[in-house]
Amino acid sequence: MSVSVEVEAPTSNRELVAWVNEIAALTQPDRVEWCDGSEEEWTRLTNLLVEQGTLTRLAARPNSFYAKSDPTDVARVEDRTYICSERREDAGPTNNWIAPGEMRRTFGELFKGCMRGRTMYVVPFCMGPLGGEISQLGVEITDSPYVAVSMRVMTRMGERALRLIEERGAARQAEESEERANGGRSKRDHEHSDFVKAVHSVGAPLEPGQADVPWPCSSTKYISHFPETREIWSYGSGYGGNALLGKKCYALRIASVMARDEGWLAEHMLILKLTPPSGETRYIAAAFPSACGKTNLAMLKPTIPGWKVETIGDDIAWMRFGEDGRLYAINPEAGFFGVAPGTGQVTNANAIQTLWGNSIFTNVALTDDGDVWWEGLTEEPPAHLTDWKGRSWTPDSDEPAAHPNARFTTPAAQCPTIAPEWQDPKGVPISAILFGGRRATAVPLVTESLSWQHGVFLGANVASEKTAAAEGKVGELRHDPFAMLPFCGYNMGDYFGHWLDIGRREGARLPRIYYVNWFRKNDEGKFVWPGFGENSRVLKWIVERLNGEAEAVPTPIGLLPADLDTQGLDLSEDDLRMLLTVDREVWREEAALIPGHFETFGDHLPKELWDEYNALRDRLG
Ligand code: PEP
Ligand code: MN
Ligand code: NA
Repeated sequence: MSVSVEVEAPTSNRELVAWVNEIAALTQPDRVEWCDGSEEEWTRLTNLLVEQGTLTRLAARPNSFYAKSDPTDVARVEDRTYICSERREDAGPTNNWIAPGEMRRTFGELFKGCMRGRTMYVVPFCMGPLGGEISQLGVEITDSPYVAVSMRVMTRMGERALRLIEERGAARQAEESEERANGGRSKRDHEHSDFVKAVHSVGAPLEPGQADVPWPCSSTKYISHFPETREIWSYGSGYGGNALLGKKCYALRIASVMARDEGWLAEHMLILKLTPPSGETRYIAAAFPSACGKTNLAMLKPTIPGWKVETIGDDIAWMRFGEDGRLYAINPEAGFFGVAPGTGQVTNANAIQTLWGNSIFTNVALTDDGDVWWEGLTEEPPAHLTDWKGRSWTPDSDEPAAHPNARFTTPAAQCPTIAPEWQDPKGVPISAILFGGRRATAVPLVTESLSWQHGVFLGANVASEKTAAAEGKVGELRHDPFAMLPFCGYNMGDYFGHWLDIGRREGARLPRIYYVNWFRKNDEGKFVWPGFGENSRVLKWIVERLNGEAEAVPTPIGLLPADLDTQGLDLSEDDLRMLLTVDREVWREEAALIPGHFETFGDHLPKELWDEYNALRDRLG
């Protein structure tokens, strides 16, 4: 194919057109296609993907598809994820770093001709409700139609996002010419454009006549972020978090940098709405590491009578101060990209209902009658399946039928518990923030922080046993501060400082901070707390605390429930004691882990967190 790929661009935004042409000249696709986000486009692209063998249409679910990835491309690749800040120090000790100049040189070679034989899709998108003040714009260029259709589920993608990019561009131009006319310099930061630029390639160019494979990808992978210029470049993977660049790359890594610079928060948090029998609604945000039940908590069915939970978001929260000094949160996403295994009628009936149609399932198993299945969907597995690698599977097979990180991609609007205000552009006021992780030992069911600063200390010390959501050994304990370890786009020590700054904001009416742990195990290795819908009992205690109605017991690590509603629960006295007491000896050992963790941040660790550590040691005696 020739290199001449000049296309009629459906936009007046010259910066966007110039960038698209520049990327096309570099990557040399056969065609350039601008995505409008229409139904017609979805149908055409999903048909194409079925034809190419990437997707299989599900006979049993309307407008739904099954994708089997390359078996080497099944999760986020954290060791191939880079923060390319000018200074290494700004990436911090928890991120991989490559100097932007060097990274750009590498990409200059890697992306040269990398879209040959493919179509380059230009995907304009908006993170957050269209036109909302907290919302942000982006454009992803990708050579994967799977990514293009997935972006339509996960973001507000297409025509309307493009119009907003144009409006913002026009407004800026007007502003600039006015400033010039007044002889002044622009107040705006000219490093940044009106939209985040995100380039993605599966890294598998096709020679003339070369047949494609169902899931093209490359063994060379880079997921790179340029925080200063607000750019994302991703190469070699078609998998969710590596390829749907609006999600982790933009809404967390790049947005966390924007948030630091502009005084807001971009967090790895679900947002839920809780209505007690009294009717006084509360909104709660909660951060847990990947695959620790954020989606389940966001869609929880309370077991306690009269309480109602509704869903705003299941993975990411952007929070800004409102005029009343409260933090207002939006869910920047439009869909759920959830872990399928373990999602079933008992654990998350609302997710199951959400998945009735218009969904894409990746690396799950296929039933003989054209539906999907995964471990935990039903108690009894079907007698026969096709597993995620395309092999015949029976319950006697040695391996799970679905990959442990198999995913569903589904529209949030289909969730039966989605709150009517989930798309309110001004967001919802947050009353409480929860942190937590998977901890078999030591950590009580719920702890209330003593102050905002102490809450930041709790967030900074989040640790969790590893899950299948990222490459690496499952079960190992790792520190995952604020559940942001893989997602913070700058120095994590500075990020702690930013959280402390948020707490010092004049006139702030801050949420209260809690630490929860649903995953405590007994001596036999069994979970002590039933979890899922029963977690509503913990939410109830939290709301009663907010209302000044529930008692708490001071302990060295924070405030624990004096009493928890366990009515009707099959929980022994010993179990309850384990969940709601602090073992000083065990906690002295826990506390001993903190200095090593904190020291990794060197000078960037705020002094206040050392103060909190010392105070904890004093309280532990
Ligand atoms: C992902 O893995 O691509 C992802 C979006 O989410 P998480 O790891 O947080 O489940
Ligand atoms: Mn996540
Ligand atoms: Na993942």
